[in-house]
Amino acid sequence: MTAIARPKNLWLGRWGFVLAATGSSVGLGNIWKFPYMTGEYGGGAFVMVYLVCIAAIGVPVMMTEIALGRRGRGSPVDAIRRVVRESGRSGLWSGLGWMAMLCGFMILSFYVVVAGWAVSYLWKSLSGGLAADSVEGMAAIFGANNANPWNLGFWSTLVTVATMAIVGLGVQAGIERSVRWMMPGLVVMLVVMIVYAVFSGSFGAGVQFLFAFDPGKLTGQAILAAMGHAFFTLSLASGAILTYGAYLPADRSIGRTTLVVALCDTLVALMAGLAIFPVIFANGMDPASGPGLIFMSLPLAFQQMPLGGVIETIFFLMLTVAALTSAISMIEATVAWLNESHGLSRARAAWGVGVLLWIVSTLAMLSFNVGADWKLAGRHFFDWLDFLTSRFLMPLGGLGTALLAGFVLRRESLEEELGLPSALYALWRFTVRYVCPVAIVMVFLDALGVLNAGFDWRWLALVLVLAVSVEALLARLARRA
Ligand code: TRP
Repeated sequence: MTAIARPKNLWLGRWGFVLAATGSSVGLGNIWKFPYMTGEYGGGAFVMVYLVCIAAIGVPVMMTEIALGRRGRGSPVDAIRRVVRESGRSGLWSGLGWMAMLCGFMILSFYVVVAGWAVSYLWKSLSGGLAADSVEGMAAIFGANNANPWNLGFWSTLVTVATMAIVGLGVQAGIERSVRWMMPGLVVMLVVMIVYAVFSGSFGAGVQFLFAFDPGKLTGQAILAAMGHAFFTLSLASGAILTYGAYLPADRSIGRTTLVVALCDTLVALMAGLAIFPVIFANGMDPASGPGLIFMSLPLAFQQMPLGGVIETIFFLMLTVAALTSAISMIEATVAWLNESHGLSRARAAWGVGVLLWIVSTLAMLSFNVGADWKLAGRHFFDWLDFLTSRFLMPLGGLGTALLAGFVLRRESLEEELGLPSALYALWRFTVRYVCPVAIVMVFLDALGVLNAGFDWRWLALVLVLAVSVEALLARLARRA
């Protein structure tokens, strides 16, 4: 069977998809969010669950999304509709695509605020605005940067405009090209920072914090947070990877591609942790300082390093580029959908969505100043956008994707698209049918306190064994009928 529609926009170079998907997944999630969440949830135990979630849920779901995108050749809504129709199933599954677009939009609404921090720090770095010699001093700079809504709004607006301009142009070549130098540049910067950390005195404490596994710290909320972050960092369940998959040439291996992207992403996150935590311990800072963590700690380290001023500028430049290549991908699905299904030009679609995005992101930005007290259940608007997407929409989208691929589509559909050797295909299928759904549901239940004995992996094993037995039984009955 051939692909349903003719692809229009394929990635250009041999590495085009890998570069773009890596650009999407490596971003603020790796360098800003991963360290501060690790700090908040107490270190190694969180990291361990995060790594398991990347391998056991993230990788198979990413493969599924790429396969769905390539088979359906379109934005999430259209691609999923085509693929389910091909299997003779209900078009209602395209609701997953709607949810993905909503999720991408919500993430971008707070992401541009954080990207605005990165750009403003790039500016401060160039103009000498990051001079303070204590953690308190750096915290004061961070606080002052947030306190003025006109200042903060300027930077987030700048990021919004830049993102929409790039997406409007649809410059795939531009994305491919910028990731090609940004990624190695970012890795080099992180290596420099890690080398500095090794000599700064607290490297051991940093490594210990990142990798010492203390199961006592694993609360239901921490596990849900780690799983949500695995989705976030790989750009899953929000249309980004699926839409990029729609531009993937037919002869590329989805499995290999996914592994490269997931490995790069994980590597950058762990390197960021290794660069940041030693600095935090060396300066007596609290790892649980929250979203400002890297902005309050890293500039302090740069000041003490030889050539620190230059390194600081390059680092914040890289962070800005990494944020932009991710931001672009979050809204690509929506723009592609408006373009394909509603005949809007890419530019019009981008600017239309951009206006809406600007309004919502401005509300998110206000959470750090005039809206600091506008709280609902203890969270302000910025936190709600993050919380709802990472703890709810993305895991739910991942669950839907796994069920769709595992139980709804005809087997040949994705088997053909994935093109895996049979043992690996069986592993993938088992994972999307059982491991992902069971794990996601259990993590949800655990976070809700339903499994109030705490999360016990023996439960997972038991449910899996039961599921496989039922499956084997059903298969046997089906064969006999
Ligand atoms: N993965 C990116 C990061 O780690 C963020 C991101 C880009 C994203 N596109 C996404 C997150 C789509 C969720 C969905 O910074």
